[in-house]
Amino acid sequence: MSRFWSDHVAGLAPYVPGEQPKILDLLKLNTNEHPWGPSPLAIKAMHDAADERLRLYPDPESTALRETLARHHGVQPEQVFVGNGSDEVLAHVFNGLFRHAGRPLLMPDITYSFYKTYCRLFDVPVELQPLAHDFSIDVGDYTRKRDVLPAGIIFANPNAPTGIAMGLDLIRDIARANPDIAVIVDEAYVDFGADSAVSLMAGHDNIAVIHTFSKSRSLAGLRVGYAIGSPEIIQALVRVKDSFNSYPLDTVAQAGAIASINDHDYFRRACQAIIDAREVLVTDLTALGFQVLPSQANFVFARHPAHDASVLAQGLREQRILVRHFSQPRVNEFLRITVGTPQAGERLCQALATLV
Ligand SMILES: Cc1ncc(COP(=O)(O)O)c(C=O)c1O
Repeated sequence: MSRFWSDHVAGLAPYVPGEQPKILDLLKLNTNEHPWGPSPLAIKAMHDAADERLRLYPDPESTALRETLARHHGVQPEQVFVGNGSDEVLAHVFNGLFRHAGRPLLMPDITYSFYKTYCRLFDVPVELQPLAHDFSIDVGDYTRKRDVLPAGIIFANPNAPTGIAMGLDLIRDIARANPDIAVIVDEAYVDFGADSAVSLMAGHDNIAVIHTFSKSRSLAGLRVGYAIGSPEIIQALVRVKDSFNSYPLDTVAQAGAIASINDHDYFRRACQAIIDAREVLVTDLTALGFQVLPSQANFVFARHPAHDASVLAQGLREQRILVRHFSQPRVNEFLRITVGTPQAGERLCQALATLV
């Protein structure tokens, strides 16, 4: 605590991102990056955009990118909002949609940990809904009538850090039971095998989804994320953005993101490679005695009945392999392991074989 800090800042609980150490020969399986790198067409588009035009401010509305995303998802451009990574889009969601005095946000107890950070930052009271024993979301927690109207609902699908995906029928039930509040589905990992709730939007104007270029498009370093929702919901995010930073996406990022979206073939192959590698990884981890939760994401969540997860994480680290361990109750027995290349999976399992 410093005498310069406001009480508000003193009370924050900042998110701790996975490490990005610069160690040679390090196998990074801790932050769910894609091992391939971006589409070559995206890299070329960014090179081409890096010229004297950078003296100009970027398009504050990212119009061309929003039009490209709208075409890609079969929606209208006014249904698309882009931001500096989906974390920034999520921050605007909390600020613009969830701050209703005296009304709590509903979200799972185990989910993307940044949500709790945003609750503190934006003074959003939260009512955590415990996941079931098998780590699935109990839909009844979000559909029953309450005395106080919730401020909103947010969950990740597939969930993080479990990787478990929920069917669209259940998301539809949640949206239908809550017509007057925003239901936000964070689909950071949806491209690795789950179904997107974009298809539900025609009948439910309270649903919005959040996507990122950081995982399936292998562009975590570019910082591009977006929301798709009804124009009413998107306008809330635009109002927050234009009260905070009118230019969240630079010119180079807009060009790279457009080219990435347009390279359908690369995207499909990049997603399929991870789905295939995930299948092999699950088989190999199971053979080593791990229990692996069913994952539709580019990571798996695995526990070994006979070994402490933090000890395993440390043992892997000594072999230059980083995975993520969360010390939170209920999940502290697990390791979250990013699915990388088949070679990465082999190296990981060889290292684990020396530890279990
Ligand atoms: C569920 C979920 N949502 C959002 C993000 C943020 O992604 P980014 O800010 O890189 O777009 C992450 C990152 O790990 C995530 O796991």
